[in-house]
Amino acid sequence: MENHSLQDRPLIKMVILVVVLVAILLGLIGALTTVIVIGPQTVIAWFVQPEHSSPVIAEKPKPDLWRPPALSDVPENEEGKLVEYGRELIVRTSTYLGPNGSVQAMSNGMNCQNCHLDAGTKPFGNNYSAVASTYPKFRARSGTEESIEKRVNDCFERSLNGDALAEDSHEMKAIVSYIHWLGKDVAKGKSPKGSGLVELGFLDRPASAENGKLLYDQQCVVCHGKNGEGIALADNTGWQFPPLWGEGSYNHGAGLYRLSRFAGYVKANMPLGATYDAPILTDEEAWDVAAYVNSMPRPTRNLSRDWPDISKKPLDHPFGPYTDGFDETQHKLGPFKPIQEKRKVIANKSR
Ligand code: HEC
Ligand code: HEC
Repeated sequence: MENHSLQDRPLIKMVILVVVLVAILLGLIGALTTVIVIGPQTVIAWFVQPEHSSPVIAEKPKPDLWRPPALSDVPENEEGKLVEYGRELIVRTSTYLGPNGSVQAMSNGMNCQNCHLDAGTKPFGNNYSAVASTYPKFRARSGTEESIEKRVNDCFERSLNGDALAEDSHEMKAIVSYIHWLGKDVAKGKSPKGSGLVELGFLDRPASAENGKLLYDQQCVVCHGKNGEGIALADNTGWQFPPLWGEGSYNHGAGLYRLSRFAGYVKANMPLGATYDAPILTDEEAWDVAAYVNSMPRPTRNLSRDWPDISKKPLDHPFGPYTDGFDETQHKLGPFKPIQEKRKVIANKSR
């Protein structure tokens, strides 16, 4: 018996060795399959982020960007109802005030939200965070101290190519209440980070409508149409995709008709889905597509009372006369740096 068991021992060792080797092999094959099936990034992430934290928590913080107050904090009283109606008018302007508007037909069918994204709350999406804190303010375009009502009507008359809304109307009161409510936590005189539009660096050449057309046909045409005409909603109450030129679009007195406003808007917001921290277009592309869209026909209006002091016109104001000696083409398309330099020299001389 003793002899027998002694002879068996190497065999048992052998069996154990084979079993262990097979187990290791199966383990390796299993691990490899896991990596292939669920992707190496995920597997690495397990080790880098032991908590399996959700991507929302993992996102880098943006502490100093303005955030709108929570909608759930709108008070449930008369004032709160006015704020909510104001928000509704920003989001669905056309339903109430468009060509078939239920309140009054006084604008072109666009919504304020088409340009003031997410009801005027998107960072660098032309939001309203700095309106309550900085108005009334002097604006050189009109040469007057402007109230929020006056500024809202500027957009009705130019961006929505329509009429002014009566300052004592329920609709105007609602819009102004909403704008006040949005900016209620911003200190007087302050413009929070993320307000308005991004300011792009100037190009060293004129913006090119020709390059812009190529880009438009690749990146914009699906939604805004071959002729910039947009795509109407099936029930005709407004636009699914708003027009960029032609009869239904903003007129040549609108903010977006200035190249820098259009380029800044598009850079941080278009094509749909772009954001200031994840833009889709380069600066050059944004300037060029701005040049193309703003070279196309659009409604006009009498602007003869704008800029009573012509020396205050912005660099990219596309209509003369000017005091700096540059022509309309350069003011419209750039390059803007030489104009900027010349204006500094003029300003220093007159000191
Ligand atoms: C076609 C685009 C467009 C539409 C539509 C539009 N706006 Fe504007 N709005 C602008 C631009 C561009 C500016 C100026 C941004 C700048 O100069 O930085 C502006 C500025 C404003 C401002 C001043 C913001 C500030 O911080 O000084 C207010 C208030 C405003 N719009 C309200 C409205 C309201 C209300 C509507 C709807 C009735 C509307 N806008 C529709 C493009 C538009
Ligand atoms: C996937 C569809 C889509 C694409 C692609 C797209 N847009 Fe837009 N665009 C929209 C929508 C939707 C709005 C209105 C946003 C809202 O109301 O919230 C808009 C609004 C605009 C506006 C302001 C409103 C107006 O009509 O004047 C401009 C300017 C604009 N887009 C330019 C562009 C440019 C330039 C491109 C290409 C670089 C582009 N868009 C690509 C969907 C698109």
